[in-house]
Amino acid sequence: MSSFGNGALDCIDTSSDADMESMTKGTETLGPEIFIDDDRPGLSRFDAKPRRAAPRTFESIGAFIFDVDGVIADTADLHATAWRRVADEEGLPFAEGLSDELRGLSRKASLEKLLGGRSVPADAFEAMMDRKNRYYAESLHRLEPKDILPGVTCLLDGLRRFDIKLAAASASCNARTVLSCVGVMDEFEVIMDGNDVARSKHGLHQFALAAASLRMVPQRCVVVDDSTAGLSAARQLGMRSIGLGERDRLCAATMTFDSLRGVEARTLLHWLDQSCARKDAVGARR
Ligand code: G6P
Ligand code: MG
Repeated sequence: MSSFGNGALDCIDTSSDADMESMTKGTETLGPEIFIDDDRPGLSRFDAKPRRAAPRTFESIGAFIFDVDGVIADTADLHATAWRRVADEEGLPFAEGLSDELRGLSRKASLEKLLGGRSVPADAFEAMMDRKNRYYAESLHRLEPKDILPGVTCLLDGLRRFDIKLAAASASCNARTVLSCVGVMDEFEVIMDGNDVARSKHGLHQFALAAASLRMVPQRCVVVDDSTAGLSAARQLGMRSIGLGERDRLCAATMTFDSLRGVEARTLLHWLDQSCARKDAVGARR
C-alpha cells in the first residue's frame, strides 16, 4: 500500500508525459505532504503546470465506484452523531473511536456494535434503528452543495475526461438523498444504495451490483472508500481501491490518501495502471 498526505495540493490535471515518466522512477520524498512509503516505483512529484486533456488511455481501469458517506460528503459524522444521540438516550457508552468503527457498517451491524453484546427485545432493537434513522434523516436537511468533500468534483471531472465510467455505491438507504443534497446525482452513470442491496436476489454487495450494472469486470473497477468494511469488500471482489482517512483502518486498500483534495485523475490512473501491470508481471512469473 502506498500512502499520500495531500492537504495542500491544487486541484488541476497537471502532468506532462515527460513529467509522468519522471514520476515513475524510484521512490522519493514528494515534498512536505506527499510521500510513498514502500520501494515500488510510483509518483515522485505532483507538477504545477496546467495541461490540456490527455491523449492516452488507461486500459486496465474502466470504472471508479465511489462510496458515499465519508467520501462524497462528510455524512459519516452525521451517522455517528445520530447513533451517539440514541446511545445517550439509552444510557449506552459511546467509546472514543466508535465513530470510526461504525464507518461502512450496516444499520443493524452498527446497533449491534453500539449494544456491545447487551441483548434487547426485537421490537426495541427495531425502534432504536428507526429512531437513529429519523435523527440522521433530520440532519440531512442541512446538507447542501457546499458540503461536498474537497477534491470530489475535480476528480470526477478528471476521470470523465479519460472515459472512466462513474458509479456511486453505498449500503445506506439514504445515499440518494445525500447525493441529491450535495448536487451530484447526475455525475454518476449508476447509483446503487441500501434499497438496491436489499432487493438484490443473491444479496450482492453494492460494489458488485454497481460493476454489473456498468458491465465492467471487477478487475477493471477501482473503489473509493473510507471504511475497513468497504475496502475489505472491494479486495474480496477483486477490485482495486483508494482508501481515504486514517491509515490504520485502511489496510485493505491498494493506496491511501488523507482526502481527495488535490488528487488528480491522470496521476492516479497512471499509478493504478502501473500497479496492475506489476501484479500481472508477478502473476506471469509464478
Ligand atoms: C453506510 C454508512 C454506515 C451506515 C450504512 C447504512 O455504509 O457508512 O454508517 O450505517 O450505510 O445506512 P442507513 O442510512 O441505511 O442506515
Ligand atoms: Mg463510507
